[in-house]
Amino acid sequence: MKNKVKIFCPGTIANISCGFDVLGVALDSVGDEMVITKTAEKGIRITKIEGQQLPLETSKNVAGVAGLALLEASDYEGGFEIEIYKNIKPGSGIGSSAASSTGAVWAMNHLLDNPFSTTELVKFAMEGERLASGVAHADNVAPALFGGFTLVRSYEPLDIIDIPVPNELFATVIHPQIEIKTSESRKILKTNISLETGIKQWGNVGGLIAGLFKSDYDLIGRSLVDHIVEPIRSILIPSFDDIKKESLAAGALGCGISGSGPSIFTFSKGLDTANKVGDAMRRVYEKVGVDFDIHVSKINSQGIKIV
Ligand code: HSE
Repeated sequence: MKNKVKIFCPGTIANISCGFDVLGVALDSVGDEMVITKTAEKGIRITKIEGQQLPLETSKNVAGVAGLALLEASDYEGGFEIEIYKNIKPGSGIGSSAASSTGAVWAMNHLLDNPFSTTELVKFAMEGERLASGVAHADNVAPALFGGFTLVRSYEPLDIIDIPVPNELFATVIHPQIEIKTSESRKILKTNISLETGIKQWGNVGGLIAGLFKSDYDLIGRSLVDHIVEPIRSILIPSFDDIKKESLAAGALGCGISGSGPSIFTFSKGLDTANKVGDAMRRVYEKVGVDFDIHVSKINSQGIKIV
């Protein structure tokens, strides 16, 4: 019988420019690791966190809260111990909280022989997002659990659509080492948009989905435009406009804010172009005076993996 599992929990890019709170994609070379063990003792204990300063208390940790949501829905009488090895910094915009909350529920479901569907796991993991950001959004947790690109077509009822990944699509992400809390960067957003803005935005959402289904890289690039959130949030990110300009000049298909920032993502056709875009980003940020990491990653079609 399986009692213990070690997993890779992917980083994710939420929103993908035009799809605020509904679109997301999983990354392959950015992520955390977790070890989850079944215990006879009831409840969830977080026994170790390495890499970041985060609460061990179950009710204050996103992995703990997501795990408790699963336990509550389950008839399992025992409990779990969780170890978290963080590589993704909280407040980076690449789904740090989602990696932990999805990892917990995925591993628990695995050790219980998969009583819950992936959509049910998304619901449990959303409780972790509620703790982290004040809002139970699913655009990071859905791609971490399903892999590839996902669309949250509806929140009530939860309806998640799995979208195919074009073979040659790569992401390049720059993470400036400043922290932007999702809860804060949601507060600055406007809550109303005009019909004119809506028309432009849903045109791009449809275009992006069609581009992904058809592996039409130019259409993907043309659709990576955000008329609603980026004009407001980009002000918080040093040299956002320069990163965008230089990434596009280096061959990126499109560029936008990753989740609630400060990370900035681009998509490129082919690894060579994705690496060139990374070099262009590096040249811009070396002049900014803020530390940064750059990740070049294949799209992760599988989501969470056993390691
Ligand atoms: N859709 C969320 C937001 C993602 O932009 O606030 C946070 O990672």
